[in-house]
Amino acid sequence: MREVKVGLCGLGTVGSGVFNVVSRNLAAINARSNCQISIAQVGCRRDNAACDLSAAHITRDIFEVAKNPDIDIVVELIGGTTVAYDLVMLALENGKHVVTANKALIAEHGGTIFAQAEARGLMVCYEAAVAGGIPIIKALREGLSANRINWLAGIINGTTNFILSEMDTKGREFADVLSEAQAKGYAEADPTFDVEGIDASHKLAILASIAFAMPLSLDGLFTDGITQLEPQDVAYARELGYVIKHLGIARQSDAGVELRVHPTLVPERSLIAGVNDVANAIMVNADAVGTTLFYGPGAGAEPTASAVIADIVDVARVMDSYPDSWVPGLGCNSSAIQPRTIMDIEDVETGFYIRFSALDKPGVLSDVTKIMGDAGISIEAIIQREQPAGERYVNVIILTNVTKEKFLNEAVTHIEQLETVRGEVSFIRVEYLDQV
Ligand code: HSE
Repeated sequence: MREVKVGLCGLGTVGSGVFNVVSRNLAAINARSNCQISIAQVGCRRDNAACDLSAAHITRDIFEVAKNPDIDIVVELIGGTTVAYDLVMLALENGKHVVTANKALIAEHGGTIFAQAEARGLMVCYEAAVAGGIPIIKALREGLSANRINWLAGIINGTTNFILSEMDTKGREFADVLSEAQAKGYAEADPTFDVEGIDASHKLAILASIAFAMPLSLDGLFTDGITQLEPQDVAYARELGYVIKHLGIARQSDAGVELRVHPTLVPERSLIAGVNDVANAIMVNADAVGTTLFYGPGAGAEPTASAVIADIVDVARVMDSYPDSWVPGLGCNSSAIQPRTIMDIEDVETGFYIRFSALDKPGVLSDVTKIMGDAGISIEAIIQREQPAGERYVNVIILTNVTKEKFLNEAVTHIEQLETVRGEVSFIRVEYLDQV
């Protein structure tokens, strides 16, 4: 069998997972790739106690791996977009194929990296960059290649899903659950990337580029995290028959492409509402196949390693064949990648969950419903919570039908101007996801 030598750069959570799974499953991996794969060099700042490195060839200089003439595939698992970018470009300059789990790198610099790889007749694979162990990149690039993709929507950050699930089912505090997610190796090095939605926006940009054949870019992508969510909203959503999930949504229509990441109410009966803990799930709606759902662990050492190694196997299988027979970086010929108009969030249509505090006296709700009616927004449900003794204000929760966000914003401004309403009106978008 042909020998394929891998240079592993980074021995953190994912790197150690790759090292251990390759060691454990090497016979099956070799049989599947029809090659003799070995981790010929490991570049890492320090050893990882989770790995038996006694027989490993270690260097503290990752750039040495990129220049090593024996290495066929450089695996970039160091994260970030500075040193990782230099490493990947150096590896390509030195004729190495690249496998990476780095969503920020692909989302921000993928265009340059793929162009460089194409010019040099090399592959850059990134299955592990999106949704951990779920083979969603392969599904979009290959499995759904017959389709026009209409939309995709998914839970694409394991840390936020873990936090929301624990808040919902166990009433736990945000900070406490985030610490546990960090300890379990789910969170990014900087966990604000998870909880502010930045990690999910990187992943959504990648998915949308493949789905809609458009350049990798974060421009116009609306991003909101979960830090402003209040436990009471999680509870009220349940009362109304909904669950709050942090979703990435991409949809194409004649008006352009919607790209948005934000907390979202989804009906309790939808499949995605039951996706809990660190799991991710992505629904893809396409013209020929209809709606498909891809589910699995979205973070963690070995689930992510599973995706990295699948890429190594894919590269090893075909690296000696003619590059035209390889799957292109974004799943289609680079000349077919065309920029698209990204819709302003104000023009996007969704349902809305609204909460505000209002004086408990006759006429207040009729003022509010008049404002909604004048804005052309119809109300689907309304609840008013009983106030504790002595409290003159009550929480009012309204669920609207689908409307443009700019109409909702107009209504919110007018509601906040009512003398009977105290403080700000908060809102969360609602998606029905075709009731799947
Ligand atoms: N921090 C990421 C998450 C890791 O929680 O989903 C996987 O990309």
